[in-house]
Amino acid sequence: MTRLSPRDKNAPRDVDTPSIIAGKSDVTLSQSKNTKKVFIKTYGCQMNVYDSERMADVLAPIGYAPVDTPDHADLVILNTCHIREKAAEKVYSELGRIRQHKDRNKPDMKVAVAGCVAQAEGQEIMRRAPIVDMVLGPQTYHKLPEMIAKVTREAGEVLETDFDTLEKFDHLPETRTAKGFSAFLTIQEGCDKFCTFCVVPYTRGAEVSRPVAQIVAEARSLAAQNVREITLIGQNVNAYHAQGPDGSEWGLGELIRHIALIGGIDRIRFTTSHPRDMDDALIETIGKEPKLMPYLHLPIQSGSNKILRAMNRDHSYEHYKNLIAKIRKSRPDIALSGDFIVGFPGETDADFEQTLKCVEEIGYGSSFSFKYSIRPGTPGASMHRQVPEDVKSERLKRLQDLLYTQQFAFNQSLIGRTLSVLVEGTGREDGQLFGRSPYLQGTHFNGPKDLIGQIVDVTITDAGKNSLIGKLE
Ligand code: 5AD
Ligand code: SF4
Repeated sequence: MTRLSPRDKNAPRDVDTPSIIAGKSDVTLSQSKNTKKVFIKTYGCQMNVYDSERMADVLAPIGYAPVDTPDHADLVILNTCHIREKAAEKVYSELGRIRQHKDRNKPDMKVAVAGCVAQAEGQEIMRRAPIVDMVLGPQTYHKLPEMIAKVTREAGEVLETDFDTLEKFDHLPETRTAKGFSAFLTIQEGCDKFCTFCVVPYTRGAEVSRPVAQIVAEARSLAAQNVREITLIGQNVNAYHAQGPDGSEWGLGELIRHIALIGGIDRIRFTTSHPRDMDDALIETIGKEPKLMPYLHLPIQSGSNKILRAMNRDHSYEHYKNLIAKIRKSRPDIALSGDFIVGFPGETDADFEQTLKCVEEIGYGSSFSFKYSIRPGTPGASMHRQVPEDVKSERLKRLQDLLYTQQFAFNQSLIGRTLSVLVEGTGREDGQLFGRSPYLQGTHFNGPKDLIGQIVDVTITDAGKNSLIGKLE
């Protein structure tokens, strides 16, 4: 634990407001006299959503109940994302808002910055935002109770950015509090691929797989709390490897088949995958395991072999295309999703055309696309021939037009089909329910509330770009 001295004041910058993912309130705890309140705001990927839930689990035994706003919180935690510049800057503007709230209404409130910005810019955060009491990286949040004790006992700040992923998992509470009927479960963390645009290997550390028994215990505890769907998550889940109960080396395929044996878990998903680590055992599991949903997120980033090489992706477009053909042969109903980056250094119009051609040839059910964002410390940041911002914007628009057209066409193609939907809650309109299809689209239909938490058949009657409408069978 590093102790830091007081810092200079520094004004935050303005950026757009992020989404809020806070914990559910625990009635028993919040009614108890000694209960303190924690507000956790989550930015970025599913890994952070999982980590925020686990932070709430770590804090529950020391009397903290999660709340949905910072208004009366004793502790505010920003669980941050460093993947693109815009995501990282959001933290500083949010800290400015929190400082005003703290000064005006809650002088004894403690503030923590967690996640990947904390890992990458720990000292800088302390310098720029004196309001921050604790800075903790993604591998140290199990130490929150001792950090809180320390900042409460003594004036000053605490910084924790160690890199021991397995130690973290060994120290997290055994009980995992489920929030709803679908849950993320981290099976692997970190990345050794070092794509030249990406900060993850620096912020999350080396690739580490959790032991099978620990994952299965967590999955069982989720199933016991009525969770029906588990998404196995990690920066590169198909690099998962650990010793199975039979003593042999297991990959993701074996792990999925094992989790599928747990009663109550009816749907399994996994994300994110790297095309290089998609082995035959996994492709076979995709084809044979009925609990695995027919939806695969397999990013390629660019369709140009020259850019793939510069990105250090270590595979060609042809490799990706062959892989997709193999996966589709194994599971013909599979829908694909991808990530794309436009404007990587050196990307010419011709390279970009290759990305459009890739999208045309592969065909995606949904996707995520971004303008390349320079990340300090990554090899891409010092590459020559950076692409001007207006060119990136123009390319992103063209790419997204194509991707959204494909997404809309895919959703429309489901009209008339009957899909299984996991009902997660009520919809906006009276009598309406909301759930997710096997392809992850949000699906609205009318039905009684006692179906919440169940998997029901819904015939699709209409489809937009982002969601489906259906009729309960
Ligand atoms: N700029 C733009 N997009 C990025 N991603 C990762 N790093 C960057 C960056 N520097 C995108 C990739 C990755 C997704 C999670 O975020 O597409 O797959
Ligand atoms: Fe980043 Fe590449 Fe690792 Fe994905 S595979 S986390 S993009 S370095």
